[in-house]
Amino acid sequence: MSDIIQLLPDHVANQIAAGEVVQRPASIVKELLENAIDADASKIELIIRDAGKNLIQVVDDGKGMSETDARLAFERHATSKIRGTEDIFKISTKGFRGEALASIAAVSQVELKTKQRDSALGTNIYIEGGVFQFQDPAQTAEGSNFLVKNLFYNVPARRKFLKNNNIEFRHVIDEFQRVALAHENLEFSMFHDDEPVFRLRKGSQMQRIVDIFGRKLQPQLIPIKEDILWCRLHGFVAKPEGAKKTRGEQFLFVNGRYFKSPYFNKAVQEAFEGLLLPGYIPTFFLFLELDPEKIDVNIHPQKTEVKFEDEHLIFALLRSTIKRSLGIYNVAPSLDFERDPQLDEIMQKTFPSKGNNGGSFKMPEIIVDKDYNPFLEEREVKKVEIQNLAEMYHQNIAAEPSKINLFEEEDFDEDLMRLPNGYWLFNKGDRTLMLDLGRMHRLVVSENNKSTSKKGSTNSHALLFSLEYHMNEIEKNKYRSIKKYLPELGFETSIAHENVLRIDAVPEGLKETQVMKFLENLFEILEYKTEEEFMQFYQNQWNKMQSKSRFDFIYKADAEQLIKDFTALGFPEFLPNGKRCFYEVPFNDIKNKF
Ligand SMILES: Nc1ncnc2c1ncn2[C@@H]1O[C@H](COP(=O)(O)OP(=O)(O)O)[C@@H](O)[C@H]1O
Ligand SMILES: [Mg+2]
Repeated sequence: MSDIIQLLPDHVANQIAAGEVVQRPASIVKELLENAIDADASKIELIIRDAGKNLIQVVDDGKGMSETDARLAFERHATSKIRGTEDIFKISTKGFRGEALASIAAVSQVELKTKQRDSALGTNIYIEGGVFQFQDPAQTAEGSNFLVKNLFYNVPARRKFLKNNNIEFRHVIDEFQRVALAHENLEFSMFHDDEPVFRLRKGSQMQRIVDIFGRKLQPQLIPIKEDILWCRLHGFVAKPEGAKKTRGEQFLFVNGRYFKSPYFNKAVQEAFEGLLLPGYIPTFFLFLELDPEKIDVNIHPQKTEVKFEDEHLIFALLRSTIKRSLGIYNVAPSLDFERDPQLDEIMQKTFPSKGNNGGSFKMPEIIVDKDYNPFLEEREVKKVEIQNLAEMYHQNIAAEPSKINLFEEEDFDEDLMRLPNGYWLFNKGDRTLMLDLGRMHRLVVSENNKSTSKKGSTNSHALLFSLEYHMNEIEKNKYRSIKKYLPELGFETSIAHENVLRIDAVPEGLKETQVMKFLENLFEILEYKTEEEFMQFYQNQWNKMQSKSRFDFIYKADAEQLIKDFTALGFPEFLPNGKRCFYEVPFNDIKNKF
C-alpha cells in the first residue's frame, strides 16, 4: 500500500492558520497598528478603503526593517520580540507570536516598503496569497509602510462572510480607538475612502479621550488615580450624567493593551451604586499598569481577555478608588475619603503573612484639599437657577391662582383632580379613570405629527443667535451622511470650522434649549442606510422631544385640553407599544375592602 500523508505547503498551512488571526479587516488593523507601536513609531497613519475590505494601509515612522528581516517577517513564528519560553512571561510588546504578518499575507495581497533609520536605501517586498513574488531595493521613507489589498481574494467563502461596510467600518473604528486611547503620546490619523476620520495629536490622556469622543465629554470626566506598590491605576470615569443605556464607552487597559472583563466592569458599576438609574452603564477609561509577570495575555490572538494573578485585589482597588473619587468630586452623596475597608481586608486575606498593614504595600496617602471643589462655581450657578425657578413658580401662582388646583381646597373639582405622583383622576360618564397624561400626550403628539409630516416640509425658525455644536470625528461623518435631509426638515446648518457645526435655523416647534440634545440624539444612531430609515428615526426623536411627561401637567386647563385632544382620537386605552394610557379604578373591588 502506498503512503498517503503529505506535508502541506507553507502557504496552504498559513492560509488555514490565518483563520486564527484574521477574521475581518479590523483584525488586520489591530495587528498592523500594534506592530507600528512595537517598532517605536511616533506617528502612525491608517488608510482604509471599503471598510478595509479592499485596502488597509498602515504607515509608521518606526525603526523599519532590514532587507532580510522584511523577508523573514512574513514567515510563521518569525518574531524579533521573544527568544525563548521564559520571555513569554514578561512580554512588554504587543505582539510576540510572530504569526500576524504570515497570516495576513496568506489571505491577501501585501506590499511592504520599509527602511531602517540609518540606512540609505529601503526595500520593497510583494507577497500574494502567502507566496513571495518579488523584493527590490527601494527609495522610501524611514519606517514601514504596509499595504494589504483585497482581503480574502483567494478564500471567497470567507470574503462572503464579511459583513456590510457599515459594520466592518465600525469594527475598524473600535480597534483604532482602543489603540489610540492607550497611546496618547503618539500621533494617529485615520482616513476612510479618502475622508479623514480621526486626526489625533500627541497630548494628555484627557486630550486624547476628548479628541476621540468629543468636547462635550470633557466637563464630565473625573480623574482616577491610585498607586499601590505593584499596581498603578489611572484614567477617568464620567459623572453619572454621562452614563449611557447602551454599552459603548467602557474601556479597560492593562499595560497599554485593551481588554474586556465583565468582572472588572462590575467593580466600576458597584462604585457607582446608587448614583445611576437602573439599566445605565457608566462611561470609563481605566488604565492598569503592573508587572507583566502578574498577567497572562497568552490566551488567544483574537480574544481580548487577560488573566490576572490578583483579580480580587484589582477588583477592590477599582471599586474603592472610583468610589472615593466620586466622593472627592462631590458626585456621591456622602463624602467618603477613607479607603474602602474591603480593599484592606482583601489585601489581608491575599497576603496574610505581610503583617497588619499589608506589609510591602505602600499605603497610598490621599492628600485631599477638602476646601477645593472644582464644581463649586457650577453649583453656585445651579443654586441661582433653582432660586429663579422657584421665584417664577410663585409669581405664576400669584398671577393665575384660578389655574392651580394643586393645593387649594375651594378649587377642588369632582371631575378632574391631580393625584400624587403626577397621575390625574377623571370621571368619564359612570367610570372613574386614573390617567397618565404623559402617555396620552405622546399619542396626541405623534398623531399630530403624522398629519403634519404628510403636508411636506416643516417650517423653519431662524435663530437670533446661531448655535454651535462641537462634533467629534464620528459625529462629523454622520453629519455628512444626513446633511442633505436637514434643510427640508427646517434646519439650516453649516460647518463653521473644523469640528464645529453652526446652526442658524431649526424646525418650528423645537426650542433653542432642545437643539443640542436633539442633534446629539440624531447622531447617536450608528448609520442610516436609507432616507426612509433616517426620517423614521427623526420622527421618533421629534415626537419624544415634544412629548411631556405626566409630571409636566400641573395646570388643570392643560389637562383638560389634553383630554379633549385625546377624546378626539377615540380615547384609546393603549399606546402602539402596548403601554397603558389610563386605568379604570375598580370600585367594585375597592368596596369589598371596607
Ligand atoms: N511596522 C513594523 N516596523 C518594524 N518591524 C516590524 C513592523 N511590523 C512587523 N515587524 C517585524 O516583523 C516581525 C513579525 O511581525 P508579526 O508577524 O506581527 O509578529 P510579532 O509582532 O508577534 O512579532 C516583528 O517581530 C517585527 O520584528
Ligand atoms: Mg505583531
